[in-house]
Amino acid sequence: MSELHVSPDPEAAARAAAELIADAVREARAQRGAAHVALAGGNTPKRAYEALGAALDGDWSDVHLWFGDERMVSADHPESNYRMAVEALEAGGMDDRARVHRIAGEQAPEEAAKAYALELRATVAEGAEAIPALDLALQGLGEDGHTASLFPGHREVDIDDALTAAVHDSPKPPPTRVTLTVPMLRAARRIAFLAEGAGKAGPVAAIMRGPDPAVPSSLLGGPQTVLIVDEAAAAEARPG
Ligand code: 6PG
Repeated sequence: MSELHVSPDPEAAARAAAELIADAVREARAQRGAAHVALAGGNTPKRAYEALGAALDGDWSDVHLWFGDERMVSADHPESNYRMAVEALEAGGMDDRARVHRIAGEQAPEEAAKAYALELRATVAEGAEAIPALDLALQGLGEDGHTASLFPGHREVDIDDALTAAVHDSPKPPPTRVTLTVPMLRAARRIAFLAEGAGKAGPVAAIMRGPDPAVPSSLLGGPQTVLIVDEAAAAEARPG
C-alpha cells in the first residue's frame, strides 16, 4: 500500500518533496557512499528542485542525479527536462553539473536510450532483481495517469526486459522521448510522486487503489512509494 502525504498547498508539497529527496540522499550516502536519484520532468517539481539545496544544507557531495524521462530536444531547448531541472537546482545553489546524468536529447531516441541504460549499469549498483537500484525515483503524474513517458495503452508500459525505452508517439508533446521502464523504476529503493491540482486527483486515487495496467503510474505503487500531494490532488483518495 502506498503512503499518501497531503500538504496544505503546492509550496508545502514542494518543500516536503525536497526534504524527502534530501533524506534519501543522506541515507544513501551513509549506507552506500553515494546517492542516485532520478528526477521527474514537467513543471510540478521545479519548485522542489529550487528548494533542494537548502534541504541538503548545501552538501551536494556524492549526489548523482538521473532523469525518469527526457524529451528528445537539445539540452538548452525550452522543452528539455534537463534544462528545467539544472536551472532550478542551480537557483537553489547546486554548483556542479558533473554528476547530473543527462539523456542525450539530441541523439536518435533508440541510441540515447541504449547509452543511458549502459550508463546506469556502469554507475548504479544492482539491487535484488539484477537491476540498477536507484535510491529514489521522483515521479510526476499526468492527468491521464501517465508517469515519466509511460502513457496509458502504449507499448513501453509493458516492456519488462530493458531499463530504458524510446518513445515516438507521446500524446504529451513533444512526441519523441526516452523513458525509464517500469522494471527500472520499480527497482528503486523508494519512489515518490509529487502531484498537485484537482486534475491529478483521479490518478492519485488510482495509485492508492493498487496496480492497474491501464494506469501506468499505479504500477509504481507499493510499500516503497509515497505520494506527496496538495489538498486538491488528494480529493478523491481520502475517505469521506
Ligand atoms: C514529462 C514528464 C511527465 C510529467 C507529467 C506531469 O517529460 O513531461 O516527465 O511525466 O512529469 O506529465 O507534468 P506536470 O508536472 O507539468 O503536470
